[in-house]
Amino acid sequence: MVNRRKFIHSSVLTATGVALLKANAIAALTENRGLKDYFKNDFSVGAAVDSDIFSRNNKEILSLIEREFNTITTENALKWEPVHPTENRWNFNVADKFIEFGLKNRMHIQGHVLVWHSQVPKNLFEDESGKQVSKGVLLKRMENHILTLVDRYKGKINSWDVVNEAITPEDGYRRSKWFEIIGPEFMERAFHLAHEADPNCHLIYNDYNMTNPKRSDFLVELIKKYKKKGVPIHGIGMQGHYNLDSPNTKAIETSIEAFASAGMRVNFTELDVDVLPYDWGRTSEVSSNIEYAESLNPYKNGLPKEINDKLTRRYEELFKLFLKHRDKIDRVTFWGTTDNKSWKNNFPMHGRTNYPLLFNREHKPKNAYFAVVGLKS
Ligand code: GLA
Repeated sequence: MVNRRKFIHSSVLTATGVALLKANAIAALTENRGLKDYFKNDFSVGAAVDSDIFSRNNKEILSLIEREFNTITTENALKWEPVHPTENRWNFNVADKFIEFGLKNRMHIQGHVLVWHSQVPKNLFEDESGKQVSKGVLLKRMENHILTLVDRYKGKINSWDVVNEAITPEDGYRRSKWFEIIGPEFMERAFHLAHEADPNCHLIYNDYNMTNPKRSDFLVELIKKYKKKGVPIHGIGMQGHYNLDSPNTKAIETSIEAFASAGMRVNFTELDVDVLPYDWGRTSEVSSNIEYAESLNPYKNGLPKEINDKLTRRYEELFKLFLKHRDKIDRVTFWGTTDNKSWKNNFPMHGRTNYPLLFNREHKPKNAYFAVVGLKS
C-alpha cells in the first residue's frame, strides 16, 4: 500500500507505477467497481450522456456508465432547441429515457440547461412576423419553459443548470437576447421560477473560463447581491474545458475558494482536457468554428507517449486538487464518456482526433484513469 502511494505522489508516474495501478484497477473493473466507488466519500463522479446512446440503446456504453458513474447529465436532450422546438411542441422522448436510466441506477440526475443563449429555436426571440418580442412576451416564454420542464421532472432531476454562460470577462453580462430584451433580471427570474417549480432542487449557475478573475469577481459580487435579495442559487458550475497546460491548478483553486466563500457549492460540470495544438485564442464559445488545418490535427494515428504522459499528469493534478477541496465540491462530471464521443473532436475545428477523456476509443480506461483512481487506492 505504502509503495503504491509513493508511485502516485511522485510527480512523474513511472512505468512500474502505472503498471501496478493498472493491475489494481483492472481487478476492480472486473468486480464492477469504478470512479464512483473510489470517490464515494469525496464527491460524485459523472458524465454527460449523448442522446444517441439512449435512442440507440447503446448497451456497451450504458454499462460503462453504470459501472463508473453515480451522476449523469444530458449532453443535449434537455436543451431548449431539442426539447421544446416550437412554442407548443415538446420532445420528451430521449429525456424520459435518460431519467428512467438515472432513476433505475439511483444516480444523481443533473438537468442541463434551462436558460442559455445557444441551442435555442431560431424564433424564440421573435414574433410571427420576425420582429423581436417584447420583454413581457419573452418572460412569459421563459416562465412556460422553466415551469413545464422542472415540474415534469420534479423529484427526479436533483439539480438544474438554471442559467448557462451569461457572464463575459469583458463586459459583465453577456449581451445575449435574454439580456437585451429582459435586462439582467432574467437571471434571477429564472432561478425563482425553477425554485417555485421544485423547491427541493439544487440550482446552479454554469459557465466556462471561470478562472478568469474578471468573470469570477463579477459572479461573486452577483451571488452576494442574490443572497441579500433571497434569490435561490445554491451552486456554481465550473465547466472545466481545460487544456494540457492551462489554466494552472492555482488559478482553479482560487476560483473554487472564491465561490465557496460566497456560500456556493462547487461543481465541475463539463470536465475534459484538450490535447491538441491550437493557434487561436482560448475559447469555449460554442458558436466558434475554425477552418480545418491538417497541421492542427497531428495525432490521427494515435497519441504519442509524451503527450499521453502529460495528459495523465494533468488529470492526476486536477483530481489531487479536487480531493484537497472535497469539502467544497459536490460533483465532478466529464463532458462525455469515451474519446470518440467527445465534442472536442469537432470543436472549435471540425474533424480532428482528440483524446480528452478517461476512456479511449475502444472504451477502455487510459493511463489517466489509472492515475486518478490511484489517488484513492
Ligand atoms: C458548453 C455547454 C454544453 C455543451 C458544450 C459543448 O459548455 O454548456 O452544453 O454544448 O458547450 O458541447
